[in-house]
Order: sequence, then C-alpha cells, then structure tokens
Amino acid sequence: MRDVTSMLPLKLQDIALEVDGRRLLEVTATSIRNKRRTVVLGPNGAGKTLFLKVCHGLLKPSSGRLDFVAGKSDAEVRRRQAMVFQKPVMLRRSVRGNFTHALAMAGFGWRERRRLADETMAHFGLSALADRPARVLSGGEQQRLAIARAASLNPELLFLDEPTSALDPTAARQVEEMLELLRAHGMTLVMTTHDLGLARRFADDILFFHNGRLLEQGPADTFFTRPQTAEAQAFLENRLVW
Ligand SMILES: Nc1ncnc2c1ncn2[C@@H]1O[C@H](COP(=O)(O)OP(=O)(O)OP(=O)(O)O)[C@@H](O)[C@H]1O
Ligand SMILES: [Mg+2]
Repeated sequence: MRDVTSMLPLKLQDIALEVDGRRLLEVTATSIRNKRRTVVLGPNGAGKTLFLKVCHGLLKPSSGRLDFVAGKSDAEVRRRQAMVFQKPVMLRRSVRGNFTHALAMAGFGWRERRRLADETMAHFGLSALADRPARVLSGGEQQRLAIARAASLNPELLFLDEPTSALDPTAARQVEEMLELLRAHGMTLVMTTHDLGLARRFADDILFFHNGRLLEQGPADTFFTRPQTAEAQAFLENRLVW
C-alpha cells in the first residue's frame, strides 16, 4: 500500500555549504514544518536560493544533517517534492505538452497524463493556453505554468524561488492566488521573495538569512513586529545594504 504519512518536518542540523574554501551557507538548526508556509527572506546574496537548493537536494552540503521523517526512502523523498526556479524552465512544447512531459517523467501512463494535465490547467485557469507553445507565453504566464506543472505532480513539499520577482502587479497577484490554492490543498510551501507585502500576507514562518547565515527564524507575526536582530530590523526598514 502507498505510504501516505507525511515525510515532514524536514530537519536541518549544523548545515554548512562551502565552495572553494568559502562558506556560502550556514544553518545551525531549523525545520520545515508540515503544511506551513515558510518564507525565506534576506538581501541579495544572503543565501536564500542556496538554502532552497540544499533543502531540495540539488546541492549537497559540505557538512551537517538534513533529515526527513525516518523510514522514507530517498526515492520517495525525491518524488514528493518539487522546485520552481526563479527563471521558469519551459520545454519546447505546447503548454499541455509541458504538463504531460513532466507527468511522463514522473511515471504516469498516457491516459492519466492527459487527464491530470487538463485537470490542472482548468484548476489554475490555464486551459485557454493549452495549445500555445510554452516559449511564447508572457513571463507571468510562464511562471504560472511552471508552478502549475510542479503542482500537477502533487508534491507534498514545494519550493518556489522568487515566483513573483519579474512580474507586474496583476501577474504577481495571479501567482499569489495560485499559491493560495496550493495552500488550501494542504501543500507545504517554502518560498523566497523580496516582496515584503507578499511575505506578510503569505508567511506562517520566516527564515531570515544574512551573509549566508540563518540569522533569525520564527512565526511571521513575531518577525515582522519584533525582529530580534539588528540585521533583520534594518532589512525590514530597508536600511540593509548587503
Ligand atoms: N556555485 C557557486 N559557487 C560560488 N559561489 C556561489 C555559488 N552559488 C552561489 N554563490 C554565492 O553564494 C551567495 C549566495 O547566493 P544565493 O544565490 O543563495 O543568494 P540569494 O539570497 O538567493 O540572492 P538573490 O536575492 O540575489 O537571489 C552569493 O554571494 C553567490 O554569489
Ligand atoms: Mg536567489
């Protein structure tokens, strides 16, 4: 029988990532909690994208532990998470083809692929774009496709790297509505953003990075009203320049 118990929380302990002798990321201890929305904040170069890649398994830390709930196989852990990159990766196919290809890679049969693709496009308001080549879509449409494509695989845990960064306010709002649907579906979301308005509306938990270090973490309410570190205070007041 398929194991449907959660693989979360994801716990990180004493994580360091070093490249060419430079320490790029340092996380003493944190966890990604089940069904929460975690927003990763920090100035440019703070280590946000690296953190997402380490959590998602794309980068192997130089030291430390990264543990999902015991008893899950590596394959299971990989299958149950997805990441949407800052610059969406579009396959040279139709919008529908982008879904069916991703679903094929994940092992779904052709009938199922077609059904899930159409269902997901309808759910996220993308049906009208189904037959358009993905690469001619606008930036906002591509971002929505990338998120919906990841969602069609029904991951338990989804990482999003600045999903609204290149979008105008209308497109950003559409992406935010999609994120709301994913949350309502029960997905655990981890997102980086420079949009503090979005972070305030969206976050349950905040992870604040500075110079590669996880400096502050906790419930969003506390972070925004009573940031503990001088760096977080400066960041929220827009005074932090690297
Ligand atoms: N493969 C790499 N090799 C060497 N340095 C790297 C590598 N990847 C990232 N870095 C450096 O690590 C630091 C953190 O990068 P990261 O992309 O995580 O920042 P970020 O917080 O996502 O910034 P932004 O807000 O601009 O996206 C930067 O100084 C970056 O130049
Ligand atoms: Mg980044």
